[in-house]
Amino acid sequence: MIWYPYEQMKTMKQPYEIIDANGVYLYTKDAKLIDSVSSWWCMIHGYKHPLITEAIKKQADKFSHVMLGGLTHEPAIRLSNKLAEILPGDLDYCFFSDSGSVAVEVSLKMALQYYMNKGDTKRTKILALTHAYHGDTFKAMEVGDDEDYHFVLEAYGPKTNVINIPTEIDALCQAFEKYHDQLNAFIVEPLLQGAGGMRMYDISFLEKARELCDKYGVLLIFDEVATGFGRTGNRFVADRVLPDIIVLGKALVGGYIGHAVTVANKKVYDGFYSDDDRHALMHGPTFMGNALAASAALASIEVFEKENYMDKIKEIERITHRELDGFMAPGIKEVRIMGGCACIEVNDPEILEGYQDYAYKRGVFARPFLNYLYSMVPYIIKENELVQIFDTMKEWFNR
Ligand SMILES: Cc1ncc(COP(=O)(O)O)c(C=O)c1O
Repeated sequence: MIWYPYEQMKTMKQPYEIIDANGVYLYTKDAKLIDSVSSWWCMIHGYKHPLITEAIKKQADKFSHVMLGGLTHEPAIRLSNKLAEILPGDLDYCFFSDSGSVAVEVSLKMALQYYMNKGDTKRTKILALTHAYHGDTFKAMEVGDDEDYHFVLEAYGPKTNVINIPTEIDALCQAFEKYHDQLNAFIVEPLLQGAGGMRMYDISFLEKARELCDKYGVLLIFDEVATGFGRTGNRFVADRVLPDIIVLGKALVGGYIGHAVTVANKKVYDGFYSDDDRHALMHGPTFMGNALAASAALASIEVFEKENYMDKIKEIERITHRELDGFMAPGIKEVRIMGGCACIEVNDPEILEGYQDYAYKRGVFARPFLNYLYSMVPYIIKENELVQIFDTMKEWFNR
């Protein structure tokens, strides 16, 4: 049987069984539902996009997978070139992996070894944010700061190599003052912290982070697994503040096959490029650069570019503001909007109990968590569909 994610299996509500999916819609045997959360934020083109489906089929007719150990292939080569072309600055060196969590692990390993390769063994600490979520593998959990997801780490006692700070410039300056010669990296979900509660913060924090990382020689890592490809209204937040390493996943492959990438700049890459074998990055997920995933990613990026997704996201943001600005009801703490993401934070999680079934009956699939009722819609959504999502949210609070 399936062991479902984030669920107490004993009390879990039966999940909805999906029998088909097309565009923004999921189909069960008795309902047609707008997917308001893009299947954990990855299905930016909606389901069954003909170009992406075709790219996968075409590649499957040649070969589905070969390892990148001692072998290479055109889809992975083309994807690495395409990423180097579309990513800002010299973020050109692509290390593929099979999930966002693993790609985060790779970024942290890169940062640690970058300094070891230089003979600097003192920089063992990582700076990260409070409410951070970077995935569910072990080091990703450790740099995260979410007691609801990662309390199991308490068994190991207090963290020793990770410092979590709030998104406040004073806290940032103090952390650098205290730890700057022990830090190898500062990892952030830039502008939008997703699973930690759709928390949004200002670009000035990242500008200051870049300045301090430069001053003290600390690597800046942007985990854009959730924010990459337009979610914040920026193509990448890296277009505005340039990190040393960027991590992409989810929308990288338009949500069609699990895949991710850790992209380093030349400075980081050069830190491994040497005559010494021990300076190599010793990592190699079996499915890295998977040919089906790489083909899907190339098609996804092509659609993203050709169909002016950034304009679509601006329009989603405009409609979201029109529908939700000023909306208040008893129990609501705050309404937050950024790009293709909206979040209603409530004072008590009980306020959202039963919302999923309520939305189901109104043709919307939603998955609120803790105190957060949110939308992260596919970018192809139409105005009336978007309004339906927000009307459902508002009716719930006004019922
Ligand atoms: C910012 C961020 N990083 C990493 C991950 C982990 O990605 P994956 O679920 O593909 O391992 C997530 C997943 O939600 C995420 O939001």
